[in-house]
Amino acid sequence: MRFISISEYDEHTMQLAKPVYDAKRRILLAAGSTIHPKYRERLIDIGISHLIVEDAVSRGITMEELLDAPTWLDVIDCLQMAYVAAGTDRIFPAKDLLAAAGMLLKESSQRTVIVALPSSTVAAEMQAYAHSVNVAIMALQTGKRLGYNQLQLRDLVVGCLLHDIGKAKDNRSESHPESGFQIVRGIREISLLSAHVAYQHHETLDGNGHPRQMGGKEIHEYAQVCAVANRYDHLTTDERMQPHEAMETIMAQSGIKYAENVVSAFVRSVPAYPPGARVRLLDGNEAIVTRIVHHLQRPCIRIMETGEELSLADHPSIMIQSK
Ligand SMILES: [Fe+2]
Ligand SMILES: [Fe+2]
Repeated sequence: MRFISISEYDEHTMQLAKPVYDAKRRILLAAGSTIHPKYRERLIDIGISHLIVEDAVSRGITMEELLDAPTWLDVIDCLQMAYVAAGTDRIFPAKDLLAAAGMLLKESSQRTVIVALPSSTVAAEMQAYAHSVNVAIMALQTGKRLGYNQLQLRDLVVGCLLHDIGKAKDNRSESHPESGFQIVRGIREISLLSAHVAYQHHETLDGNGHPRQMGGKEIHEYAQVCAVANRYDHLTTDERMQPHEAMETIMAQSGIKYAENVVSAFVRSVPAYPPGARVRLLDGNEAIVTRIVHHLQRPCIRIMETGEELSLADHPSIMIQSK
């Protein structure tokens, strides 16, 4: 299976590899089905811009690295409830949220790498929540790489899940960190450090961030981890960059906007070439990433023309063209 933009979908050669859900989590189309062009329009109307399909090109790509869709949707559901509570002063579902964070921690302890499902594969109404879940997943892997213990990881994950919750009250981009901080710090079950992730996730090392232009060492490391994951998710979704391009953009800001140790841990935790990605090699050959074994940035690939499969980790001389 592989991700494609919905505009690339061809009903004659492709089947859905994963179900498509609407905003109420009802299955619109089951795995294995093909999409009639009329129905494709409907999916575009509800904001879905990417699909996970099975076709001849993606043969043998199982994407075991992908986070389990039911887990992903459960956490999205839980966040949606949290946003509703924050926006209406209902009781905040703190226990559910901590349980959701625990589910992500458990998933991550069982795998070397987790690839998040792009938020563009769900209906527009769910995308803000999907974004936060994806930020939390990437932050979690980065935190592991930074050597955080389980408690530290939990505070980081909860902070990342809630980093944009200020938007539930106040959608202005400048003030959501502050509103988010106020919401999260009022929840007894949640650590103040998680509240600071919400407060500081738009601050940058150079002091040009917002809302407090903090800069340098004042910013908590959890907030920097969240900032990097947040930026990466925006680049790959809103700005439609390829993962490796987004990675390069982040790397270019290492030591400028983001702490070097955080960027370096991020780069070693989030795959720039996820399974299913099409790449061009320096020798001109087109290839597709089939799986990630141990080296995150040197995955296994299949050369399109010959069908030959090889691991880039074992062939250091084979290079991927950056564009
Ligand atoms: Fe934000
Ligand atoms: Fe965000």
